[in-house]
Amino acid sequence: MKGKPVSYSAIQNQLSIVYPNDLNAYRTLFGGRLLEMSDSLCGAVAKRHSGRICVTLAIDSVKFLAPAKEGDILVFQAAVNRTWNTSMEIGLKVFAENFKTGKRVHIFSAYFTFVALDDNLKPCKVPPVIAETEEEKRRYQEAEKRRTHRLQQQNLL
Ligand SMILES: CC(C)(COP(=O)(O)OP(=O)(O)OC[C@H]1O[C@@H](n2cnc3c(N)ncnc32)[C@H](O)[C@@H]1OP(=O)(O)O)[C@@H](O)C(=O)NCCC(=O)NCCS
Repeated sequence: MKGKPVSYSAIQNQLSIVYPNDLNAYRTLFGGRLLEMSDSLCGAVAKRHSGRICVTLAIDSVKFLAPAKEGDILVFQAAVNRTWNTSMEIGLKVFAENFKTGKRVHIFSAYFTFVALDDNLKPCKVPPVIAETEEEKRRYQEAEKRRTHRLQQQNLL
């Protein structure tokens, strides 16, 4: 199966705004809402890379690093770090940007594992991902260690 470069499906600068209905009781961005937006975006990356229906199998290393406020601009960055047989790891970072000052704060990180499905909704092969830049190559290497850890935790290795 022909590989696709990380850049084919990566999202560098997807913008969104924190609206009043995105807030929690403390008037900062609700974590569940951010997870939902992130899952949807990473799903689009997985779909674009694989050309298949993709479902979320797992989300890990979820870190809410700082709050975001109403009106902040959210900047999403997501990319396929590595693929295996039917699964892919997508890495995601989210920043909150103050639109008046331009100051950007890293607010969220996570790894999403997606599985590609065929037309009968059975797991199917995904194209290899080609890491081109030094950073992509580092993520590619590190993703293998994370996958080993995940599978060991589930007694699958
Ligand atoms: C995702 C799903 C189709 C996988 O089905 P399954 O029968 O477990 O499939 P498999 O055992 O063949 O595993 C599929 C892949 O996931 C990997 N996997 C399984 N558990 C894993 C874990 N904890 N972490 C990382 N990868 C894991 C397997 O190693 C395999 O990867 P590979 O083919 O690349 O080697 C099934 O679990 C499912 O339908 N889950 C619900 C998905 C869902 O509804 N998500 C929310 C809506 S999008």
